[in-house]
Amino acid sequence: MSSPPRDSERLRRKRGSIPSMEALGDDSLKDQSLSIVVVGASGDLASKKTFPALFGLFRRDLLPKDVAIIGYARTDMDDEKFHKKALAHIDTKKYPEESKKFTKILSYIHGPYDKDEGYQKLEAHIDEIENKRPDNEPRNRLFYLAVPPTVFADAAAGLKRNCYSRKGRNRIIIEKPFGKDLETCRELLSSLKGEWSEDETYRIDHYLGKEMVKNLLVLRFGNIVLDATLNKNNVSNVQITFKESFGTEGRGGYFDEFGIIRDVCQNHLLQTLSVLAMERPVSFAAEDIRDEKVKVLRCIPPIKAEDCLLGQYVAADGKPGYKDDDTVPDDSNTPTYAGLALFINNPRWEGVPFIMKAGKALNESKVEIRVQFKDVTSGIFTDIARNELVMRIQPDEVIYMKLNSKLPGFETKAIPVELNLTYKDRFTDVDIPTAYEALIHDAIKGDRSNFVRDDELDVAWKIFTPLLHWIDGKGPGPKPQPEAYPYGARGPKDSAAFSAKYGYKRPDDDYTWPTTSVQANL
Ligand code: BG6
Repeated sequence: MSSPPRDSERLRRKRGSIPSMEALGDDSLKDQSLSIVVVGASGDLASKKTFPALFGLFRRDLLPKDVAIIGYARTDMDDEKFHKKALAHIDTKKYPEESKKFTKILSYIHGPYDKDEGYQKLEAHIDEIENKRPDNEPRNRLFYLAVPPTVFADAAAGLKRNCYSRKGRNRIIIEKPFGKDLETCRELLSSLKGEWSEDETYRIDHYLGKEMVKNLLVLRFGNIVLDATLNKNNVSNVQITFKESFGTEGRGGYFDEFGIIRDVCQNHLLQTLSVLAMERPVSFAAEDIRDEKVKVLRCIPPIKAEDCLLGQYVAADGKPGYKDDDTVPDDSNTPTYAGLALFINNPRWEGVPFIMKAGKALNESKVEIRVQFKDVTSGIFTDIARNELVMRIQPDEVIYMKLNSKLPGFETKAIPVELNLTYKDRFTDVDIPTAYEALIHDAIKGDRSNFVRDDELDVAWKIFTPLLHWIDGKGPGPKPQPEAYPYGARGPKDSAAFSAKYGYKRPDDDYTWPTTSVQANL
């Protein structure tokens, strides 16, 4: 007798079908041989994110059967040292066999980023690998740029001149920062476009690879009840909150040039907002989805200074303040916290504030979307809690809807309760892919829907550039000074008043989630 299907298998079989991307166009490289080149292979991003994601795909058997991964960077190291670096953030104890096999497909070449000779050496190495494959195999190549922005243009051009495959398909993956404002972003895009077509370019915003963000499309458009209620008639305000319980330790020099708005709001949180707020796309095809995202972003006017609250953390409880970092100038006004209110001028959302809050060195690490509905029309109830739909992106994926229900017993008293979908309880044996695994997998399949198109970036920068220029002292009036908050606080002291200004009502203090039991007081 065969054993019953596991939870994940059962769900997969029953799942409502979404036309797969393969059915929409055969761009997948999965069933052909592939050379993956990681440029910047000795750096932090590669070791913390790229190699663990490639390993994750490898152990799940989601890389092509015939695949080679070639690291390229300036550091001179032998294969053994490179393997150590590539495995540094992989749990080799949990996966001893798989990690051993993984190193067999890894090799490394060192060379400069700004000279052809390095890329020519790289090309010879890739060629040698590809020459061992059958003659009729296409020579597909995926280049992953895990390098700082100062090197983007040189690396993209060097690869195009020297390592571009004429006998297969080429894709290049790049990651933020895409400039520092509208103008620098346009410069960067046009220098890259000179070499790589839009179709070949995959711009990562790793928030688009997170499971809960990917779920937004299904939640919104697969549920009449949600799609019908998410609009200005019912929603009071939407909050998108990003909190980290650690500061910029060790990254102060980099961070000071960017600040929290460029680091997180203009990209990760705005991308999340656009998927949450966009209209229903014609299909799940990448261009249909991205068209809708651009459309909704174009309805957002530039953020005004008065719709912004800035903060910067200072030392507390033995933890260093932002400016205690030697690489941060003493007079830095770079925000490590920002509260922003955005408005979408379209028929669905007109007048509904979208409050973005992002901060480093706060009281906890959490990212969530909170849709707060309007008050019930007064009359029969006094003081009844508002409905809320909360979608927690991390640390654990959870969706819960706060409703009012009668407290069981003789009296008629309403209390807030939750409809609760906690992923780890509901999907017990599902191993959720990391954002980078999901996105590299998409890039191999040729599914661009979760990558950022050039016009999305342009419109995203238009929303933020005037505000950023004002903070940088390039706008009219003096530079704003962020409000100090202690390391480990909930934010600057004005942060609660900031949300309240846009209509957010904090639940009663005695409400906590998850609530396991309520004193029924029968
Ligand atoms: C990065 C930012 O893009 O995203 C970091 O540069 C931030 O400052 C990080 O910590 C957050 O990503 P995640 O996946 O940890 O939420």
